[in-house]
Amino acid sequence: MRISIGCDHIVTEIKNHVADYLTKKGHKVIDNGTYEKERTHYPIFGRKTAEKVVLGEADLGIVICGTGVGISISANKVKGIRAALVGDIETARYAKQNLNANVLAMGGRILGIGMIEDAIDVFLETIYEATPENKALISKIDSIPMSEEAINANHMFDEFIEKWDKGLYQD
Ligand code: RB5
Repeated sequence: MRISIGCDHIVTEIKNHVADYLTKKGHKVIDNGTYEKERTHYPIFGRKTAEKVVLGEADLGIVICGTGVGISISANKVKGIRAALVGDIETARYAKQNLNANVLAMGGRILGIGMIEDAIDVFLETIYEATPENKALISKIDSIPMSEEAINANHMFDEFIEKWDKGLYQD
């Protein structure tokens, strides 16, 4: 697979380890940096990594910062990205199998290297199950408007909210 990877300065060594790990497994790694340990900003690398996925230059992305929070939020700002912040195997599996996540995000200061490698393996190996339920959920996620104007103008969830308020909601 072609894997786009990125990190901030806090976890450069871990990102380098991940790059080697993937290369040894036969994947093509697109390393978007950062390459140094000098202070930088994770939105740059979350964006760069995610863009490669959306543009079709990479099949999947992996982003890492200290907690994984900042860089996952940044990656998710790129339209078409479903980045999942993962700290365990089950979440890695679910993210891909049910929500077809295309970016795996992890906290390099939170997880041990063994957990990071296992989460990567599971994320890459798990096949997305394109069931009607999964497709419908992804479609709903993808339809969430981005701008305040669009939020105010969009009432696509009103029916469900109304049912929920009445205690009638069933999916
Ligand atoms: C360091 O900038 C730290 O805030 C970052 O690596 C990350 O933990 C943010 O979510």
